[in-house]
Parts: sequence; structure tokens; C-alpha cells
Amino acid sequence: MSLKERGMQMKSSINYVRFSLFHRFCHFLIIISFFGLVLTGMPLAFRSYGWARWLYELFGGYPTAGFIHRICALITFFAAFIHFLFLFICVSVQKRKGFFWGPGSLLIQPRDIFDIVGDIKWFLGIGKRPDFDQWIYWEKFEYLSLMWGTLVMAVTGLILWFPVQFTKIIPVSVASVVDLPGIALIIHRYEAILAAGFIFTIHFFHTHLLPEKMPVDEAIFTGKITEAEFRHERLNQFKRLESQRQLENYKVAPPSLFVSFLTRLFAVPILITGLLMVGFMFSALLVWAI
Ligand code: HEM
Repeated sequence: MSLKERGMQMKSSINYVRFSLFHRFCHFLIIISFFGLVLTGMPLAFRSYGWARWLYELFGGYPTAGFIHRICALITFFAAFIHFLFLFICVSVQKRKGFFWGPGSLLIQPRDIFDIVGDIKWFLGIGKRPDFDQWIYWEKFEYLSLMWGTLVMAVTGLILWFPVQFTKIIPVSVASVVDLPGIALIIHRYEAILAAGFIFTIHFFHTHLLPEKMPVDEAIFTGKITEAEFRHERLNQFKRLESQRQLENYKVAPPSLFVSFLTRLFAVPILITGLLMVGFMFSALLVWAI
């Protein structure tokens, strides 16, 4: 959809808040740090390829690229820290309900199983598309895999960063037979390929590259969605807020054309970079496989 068409669509309809400023900031930190980590890490994993050597040099080569990798890792830790601090304050201090159970929870609920079955039926053309709530099952799956993936990358990355200190923690008898940094490197490398492969294909395609969103789903940047998008994507949440008479609280002014333009200016090059990276990585993996 062109920028002008998008602007007209946003302006001619009522808009609602989808993401708060805090959540958009966290997502921004994750984008910046994840891309920095991928662009400085993948050249090491695929070091025998020309594109990888070119990329490594682009980021300053040794030791600058490694330094950037570590700075991006610290940004990831900061994003994780403020996310969990936010959860702690909401649950323990403000006593807000619904984070762990209920229609607004990002954790898997029995309802998600019915939605998966309903979605499969819809794909097969034997059922109606399910009406989703605030978080769709694949968004929950992505959130939980981000949590798990960050934990694995952080632990293995810290072992690679401080190999001597970590090897000292384990008993000498174990350290003499188990190559801890070697194991961490294998896990770090393949989890990195899995994470980048997942984000640059599945995440990109079911958010930004859907025909109705192309070239970018602006909601995570502007924080807003139109009423038509809200009803189409999350009808159950829309109806729930309507019946609780809370819908009015979510109404906001549409984003300006300038904000939409800035969003695209930032997001489109990032999307193209991710797609190029996944192309390079998969072609290299194919060469390894045959
Ligand atoms: C979040 C915490 C992370 C930390 C502390 C960390 C740390 C490290 C360190 C110390 C290295 C050794 C290479 C060097 O000295 O420059 C490394 C390599 C690497 N990192 Fe990370 N990293 C993290 C996250 C990530 C993420 C999220 C990705 C990509 C999705 C990634 C991809 C890689 C790759 C591909 C390598 C090269 C492994 C190889 O030599 O085959 N890292 N990382």
C-alpha cells in the first residue's frame, strides 16, 4: 500500500492504541541490538564466504566488529532488564491482573489450542477464520521463543566473552574433559542461525510482508491501528473492550503522514537487510549440505 493510500486509510477511520511508548521503545532496542548482533556475528559463523568477509570489514574487522557485538549484547541485556522490571512493577507493585492468565495474557491459554485447530481448518477451507484476542497464538509463540532464545544466547555468549572465568566455575575434573567454550560456541552459532532465520522469514512475513501491510506494519512504530485493522485482526478484544465500555479509552488521533514516512524510512532498509542476510545464510547452508 502506498504512503498516500495508507495516510488516507488512517485519517478516514478511527484509530486505537495497540502498543504503548514503552513497548515500542523495547521493540526498537531489540531491533537495533539484534541487527547489530547478526551483522557482526554471522561473518564469523560463515567466515569462508566472500560476503561474510566483506561484512566483517564493513563493521571495522577485528577487533572493532567484536566490540560492536558486545555493545549490542549489552543493549539486549538492558532491554530484557527493563522488560522484566516493567512486569515486576505491574504485577507486584500496581497489582495489575491478567498478565499470566486471561484474554490479555501473552502466555499460552487453553483458548490458543482451539485457535490453532480453527486456523488449520480455515487454511484447509473447512471452517471460518477464528476471531482472535489481544495476542494471537503465533505472537505468543514468538514472544516465548524470544525469551528462551535470549537466555540461551546470553549464557553461551557470556561464556564466549569470559571463557577463563566460566571454566574456573566448573570443577577441575569436569573442565579437563568438557570443553565449555567449545560447546558454548556450537550452541551460540546454531541458535543464532535459527533465530535470525526465524525472524527474517516467519516474523517478517506474517507481520510486515502480508499483502495488506506491505511494505511495513506501522503499528509497532506508531503504536496505532485503524478500527478496520482492529476488528479484522482481534475481533474478540474489540468486542470485549466494547462490552466493558473501555473502547473509548483506546481511541487516539491517527499518525501523521510524516510519522508514517519516517517509519518506512527506518523500517524498509532494515527489512531488506534482513531478507538479504537470510538469503546469504541459506545459500551458504545449502552449499554445506550438498
Ligand atoms: C545476547 C548476548 C550475546 C552475547 C553476550 C554474545 C557474545 C558473543 C561473543 C563473545 C562471541 C565471540 C566472537 C567475538 O569475539 O566477536 C560471539 C559470536 C557470535 N555471535 Fe554472539 N552474543 C550474543 C548474542 C548474539 C545473537 C542474538 C546473535 C544472532 C542472532 C549472535 C550471533 C553470533 C554469531 C553468529 C557468532 C559467531 C560464532 C562463530 O564463531 O561461529 N550473538 N557472540
